[in-house]
Amino acid sequence: MSDKVAIFDTTLRDGEQAAGTRLGSREKLTIARQLARLNVDIIEAGYPASSPEDFVAVQLISTEIEGPAICALSRAVASDIEACGKALAKAKRPRIHTGIGVSDIHIMGKFRDEKYGTTLEEKRATLVQMAIDAVRLARSYTDDVEFYAEDAGRAEPAYLFEMLQAAIGAGATVVNIPDTTGYTVPEQFGALIRSITENVPNISRSTISVHCHDDLGLAVANSLAGVANGARQVEGTINGVGERAGNAALEEVVMAIRTRGDYFRVVTGINTTEFCRTSRLVADMLGMAVPPNKAVVGGNAFSHSSGIHVDGFLKQRETYEIMRPEDVGFSDSRVVLTARTGRHGLRDRLEKLGYALSQGELDLTYQRFLRLADKKQEVFDEDLVAILHDEIHPVPETYQLEYLHIYSGTSAIPTATVRLRVRGDLREGAAVGDGPVDAACKAISQVAGSSANLVRYEIRAVTSGTEAMGEVTVNLEAAGRRVMGRGASTDVIEASARAFVDGLNKLAGFAG
Ligand code: KIV
Ligand code: ZN
Repeated sequence: MSDKVAIFDTTLRDGEQAAGTRLGSREKLTIARQLARLNVDIIEAGYPASSPEDFVAVQLISTEIEGPAICALSRAVASDIEACGKALAKAKRPRIHTGIGVSDIHIMGKFRDEKYGTTLEEKRATLVQMAIDAVRLARSYTDDVEFYAEDAGRAEPAYLFEMLQAAIGAGATVVNIPDTTGYTVPEQFGALIRSITENVPNISRSTISVHCHDDLGLAVANSLAGVANGARQVEGTINGVGERAGNAALEEVVMAIRTRGDYFRVVTGINTTEFCRTSRLVADMLGMAVPPNKAVVGGNAFSHSSGIHVDGFLKQRETYEIMRPEDVGFSDSRVVLTARTGRHGLRDRLEKLGYALSQGELDLTYQRFLRLADKKQEVFDEDLVAILHDEIHPVPETYQLEYLHIYSGTSAIPTATVRLRVRGDLREGAAVGDGPVDAACKAISQVAGSSANLVRYEIRAVTSGTEAMGEVTVNLEAAGRRVMGRGASTDVIEASARAFVDGLNKLAGFAG
């Protein structure tokens, strides 16, 4: 048996069936290009008979994309298969994916019309013949035909074997065993795949594919159980998007196979460093954000925060990481500074920022850090620098903001009046600007007699809601020196003015 597992991506077909999502053909093409960079083996581009837009998407991807095989889905219905044949006409490596339901629930529910027979036995026989006809018709368009036995996870095994044998006999080169409803559990699904290898006489003429849904959160585990028991193609989607709870997340399947090569003893041809980029693209295009704790591609997948973990990770990365972030496309691991980070993590970050502190200074900074971390979810580098300036290198308050008045509106020229205490003296001034923040900064510069340039301005909400606390960070530059100023207030213009004054105080500290 081959040790290569083919990766069949169905983000553009089953993935796009996720509730509330719809991709146009150009968007599908953009994703298909990225899937080709990821080096998936097969791209299922759509279901051409379902809509003119899907037909065009399959046609466009067939024309433009080289590398992976391009696959189109159909029911075991002649008009569906003909639509696939036409849409795939320009593909270098076309595949038609056709099939039919095999569980009693599907047979009795979807094929209840008497034209398929009156008893379960009669209907089963009709469906086998429909499968044979469908595969034969598909083979008249391409040599690469995949047959899906829908709801195989709940089918009666003997009938499933009979159906697969018939489909392979008719020319199916791949047989897909979908757990359509995500009903099976790994041990059972693995045993089902094993039993197919043992009970379908012509199975060696075909590759077994697994296609698992995530209704019980088991899609990846079931897919891997399939691989461990003989499947050599896995179907899934990027980020696990798809119908209901979605499909098996391909990034998880592939990284499990790679990370646990000692166990699975198979390989894929995936360029795993493209996973992050692909994940972000799919999330953006489908409007489905990736949860931070998502395995492999989530924002926190390589973040460390608790003291024990950070300490171990900084001593030896493998203590808390089983994959390297760069192998899936992250630039690096991240230590997130929170109340649980611990001194080792804090000292490491301060050193990276260029501050070598004595033990006493570190203790002082750590206490302030803890107080801040209790209020904020994450402490940023700018916060640390501010703490250092307060505790270790206090900045004299040359300028103090006493008063700020802003006149602004949709049809008014923004004007700011400020009063500063400058080395004990009160001074006032006013200025107009492009906006209220600009006016406030200009008025402050004028009163302080400063020619500092504002080179960076950033604002973020520290709390949520319309009454949120705004935190402004500015970078000011004067005489070849750049400093950072910070200010916070529920009034974002006041926060901006305070940040500007803070920056001026730092510049004055250097000058003095
Ligand atoms: O889940 C499923 O059974 C499918 C088939 C159409 C392959 O998506
Ligand atoms: Zn599916």
